[in-house]
Amino acid sequence: MNVSSFPEGFLWGVATAAYQIEGATDEDGRGESIWDRFSHTPGRTAHGDTGDVACDHYHRWESDLDLLVELGVDAYRFSIAWPRILPTADIDQVNEAGLTFYEQLVDGLLDRGIKPFATLYHWDLPQVLEDKGGWANRETAYAFADYAYTIAERLGDRVSGWMTINEPWVVSVLGYERGEFAPGRTSLTDSLAASHHLLLGHGLAMHALRDLDVNSEAGIVLNFTAQEAKSDHPEDRDKQRFEDGTNNRWFIEPIVGKGYPEDILADLRWDQSPVLPGDLEIISTPIDFLGVNYYTRVIVGDSPAAPTLVSDPNLTEMGWEIYPSGIYEFLTRFHHEHHIKKFYITENGAAMRDVPDDEGFVDDQDRIEFLRRHFAEGLRAIDDGAPLAGWFVWSMMDNFEWASGYGKRFGVIRVDYETQQRTVKSSGRWLADVIEANGLSTST
Ligand code: FCB
Repeated sequence: MNVSSFPEGFLWGVATAAYQIEGATDEDGRGESIWDRFSHTPGRTAHGDTGDVACDHYHRWESDLDLLVELGVDAYRFSIAWPRILPTADIDQVNEAGLTFYEQLVDGLLDRGIKPFATLYHWDLPQVLEDKGGWANRETAYAFADYAYTIAERLGDRVSGWMTINEPWVVSVLGYERGEFAPGRTSLTDSLAASHHLLLGHGLAMHALRDLDVNSEAGIVLNFTAQEAKSDHPEDRDKQRFEDGTNNRWFIEPIVGKGYPEDILADLRWDQSPVLPGDLEIISTPIDFLGVNYYTRVIVGDSPAAPTLVSDPNLTEMGWEIYPSGIYEFLTRFHHEHHIKKFYITENGAAMRDVPDDEGFVDDQDRIEFLRRHFAEGLRAIDDGAPLAGWFVWSMMDNFEWASGYGKRFGVIRVDYETQQRTVKSSGRWLADVIEANGLSTST
């Protein structure tokens, strides 16, 4: 059997996020989050879906952890709901029940030999903070650092990896500029301020974690979308530069100490009023790893020139192009440009059509093919020197896919939302084989 192996000790995992799976939004003292408010506002999510129940993971966490054992993962990436810990966002009013929930979860993972990787912010900002300006208000960055400190004080001895902020691009652009995600605002000024305060919050949280001397590694999770010009026409090439700049360079460059990209600052004519002296130093506090979320590519440009590039007609259910070599391109590019010490793929996966049989079993060969091709590109990047140390598949199970609701399924485990029954899909079984072999064989 021909096996292409990942390096020894490669960390295999799956990922989820609190609001997408937990449900129990009103229980045990949890406060309201911006996603509760947003999803309950008519017209914001597909079919008016909300996270009120989701996968009911809050009550089913123990059996869900048993499913992780079935998948054979080394690590599990989950997120902590800020409004469970600090329902009023007041640091003097810590909700003990919230801390206990995550403490049990972390201990349950450790009991099963699985390393906990906790994301501190996966989009569920306490609504009380949004009412004071949300991420457009600098105070939110300080509040985030206090929250990070509170959590790490309790769990720092047991969590293997901390991920501060998940996808600041999505939060600032989809949440504050395009209004597609919570909090649903549409202001470029607020979006730019939010992007800076998210990075500042990340840097302050890194300091909080370092101050506590937690026994773990810490980093940030950024999403990268491959951007390519439709043609060689200068207009298209310029559009590509701009899109790559706002999507892919805007966040990583300040993190690695290079500041915001000059060309984009000029394009946006941003006055940078939220950037105070010392901020860029805080933002570039050294990270132990960079979390990379990768899903797709977009082809940009609207010049009249004949296209030299067209997307692969094979799209996922999200309408996203399947473009595996983007993973290779980003890992090798950031390795060379920014000398990143360590990468984790913190999300990668696909929404597919998923037709269950009578028992709820899904034979999702298309998702297997998607993952296989992306893993192969990760291997290629490793061969070319990129320090890729682990991979978290999105997602452990089907869940609330934000504004798309429950219609889009990303899991390697199926969830029947009527009964809350979980059924491992073909992709979950296949993933377990890959993890077991620590590689791809020609027969898997
Ligand atoms: C990412 C999110 C994650 C999930 C995937 C499909 O942007 O971080 O929660 O929704 O997309």
